[in-house]
Amino acid sequence: MTELSKTGAAVGEPTSGRQAPEAFLEVRDLKVHFPTDDGVVKSVDGLSFSLEKGRTLAIVGESGSGKSVTSQAIMGLHRLGTRGKNVRMSGEIWLDGQELVSASPDEVRKLRGREMAMIFQDPLSAMHPYYKVGDQIVEAYRVHHKVSKKVARARAIEMLDRVGIPEPAKRVDGYPHEFSGGMRQRAMIAMALVNNPELLIADEPTTALDVTVQAQILDLIRDLQKEFGSAVIMITHDLGVVAEIADDVLVMYGGRCVERGSAGEVFEQPQHPYTWGLLGSMPRIDRETSERLIPVKGSPPSLINVPSGCAFHPRCPYADVPKGNVTRTVRPELEQVSTGHWSACHLSAEDRERIWTEEIAPKL
Ligand SMILES: Nc1ncnc2c1ncn2[C@@H]1O[C@H](COP(=O)(O)OP(=O)(O)OP(=O)(O)O)[C@@H](O)[C@H]1O
Ligand code: SF4
Ligand SMILES: [Mg+2]
Repeated sequence: MTELSKTGAAVGEPTSGRQAPEAFLEVRDLKVHFPTDDGVVKSVDGLSFSLEKGRTLAIVGESGSGKSVTSQAIMGLHRLGTRGKNVRMSGEIWLDGQELVSASPDEVRKLRGREMAMIFQDPLSAMHPYYKVGDQIVEAYRVHHKVSKKVARARAIEMLDRVGIPEPAKRVDGYPHEFSGGMRQRAMIAMALVNNPELLIADEPTTALDVTVQAQILDLIRDLQKEFGSAVIMITHDLGVVAEIADDVLVMYGGRCVERGSAGEVFEQPQHPYTWGLLGSMPRIDRETSERLIPVKGSPPSLINVPSGCAFHPRCPYADVPKGNVTRTVRPELEQVSTGHWSACHLSAEDRERIWTEEIAPKL
């Protein structure tokens, strides 16, 4: 993740030009809105970040904060099927010099699978239940490579082997239901990686798996990333996963980024009251979790009637600390709090420091 691009996009400002960025992936002021009978759902509402190859960005945030919609927008999946009928999207998504928001569905389809691929929580959302696993990997490969079925089958076996599926030459002819949950997840990863994508988005890839398999899958993603030098976006509810795998962390709230920085900074010196709450509410691999998981009080914001000012203000214990009514009237923009570390909150540096050291850190 770069700090501040030449256009300033990384701080969340809209950009006027459409200049290709230097970063491998750069998302600029992305908005994904869904008009519904009840009003416009602002699932993603002005999100900017960038990511370099070889790095892993974790996106964290409560349910409904816009994590999956963001990844679907990058992959061009929001335009598919009935979902795509009613989506309004603006901003820019640059992948390796190509802008995707204005690209045709055909152009994005060409990139999907080859330049970018996604793994999901539920492998069956990516795999067809009635086709052999190997045939699906073969198909995924042949979409982008003009090779014979035989060559593609050899590639499928190689990939199944690579992701740790035993007897790959035999399992290649199995159906998804003949695989265990963990093995099915591996097979989906094999399919996602068959074309060596440069960007891999993993949306809660291990949530449904038991702890041992989870750890194996994370190792696998990390190894494959090292091997191929891909950029990875990891969406997760589990801070243990973040601590294990992420270089950078982006915290989403109500369709926007409220804090981002290196994983070390966000864990050790978190700046935003919502991140403080999140750190207390999410499991961590390095702590005894049972007694200290305290959910963030209150409910996630409506994405149709987003609270005025800071969207977190109805739940924030410190909403009255900044002078005047600023937290309820003025939306805080991302500001750099230290090198590479950004937070969107009206608290002064002194107040943040005081609250963190006196109230928050001792309890975490
Ligand atoms: N096609 C759609 N039409 C209307 N609203 C939608 C649509 N797709 C997503 N949303 C809404 O956008 C919001 C963000 O959804 P998203 O799936 O990105 O959340 P998330 O952060 O991935 O949550 P979770 O952690 O539960 O997976 C949700 O309130 C969701 O209901
Ligand atoms: S801007 Fe105000 S309400 Fe929002 S997180 Fe900061 S202190 Fe809390
Ligand atoms: Mg999701």
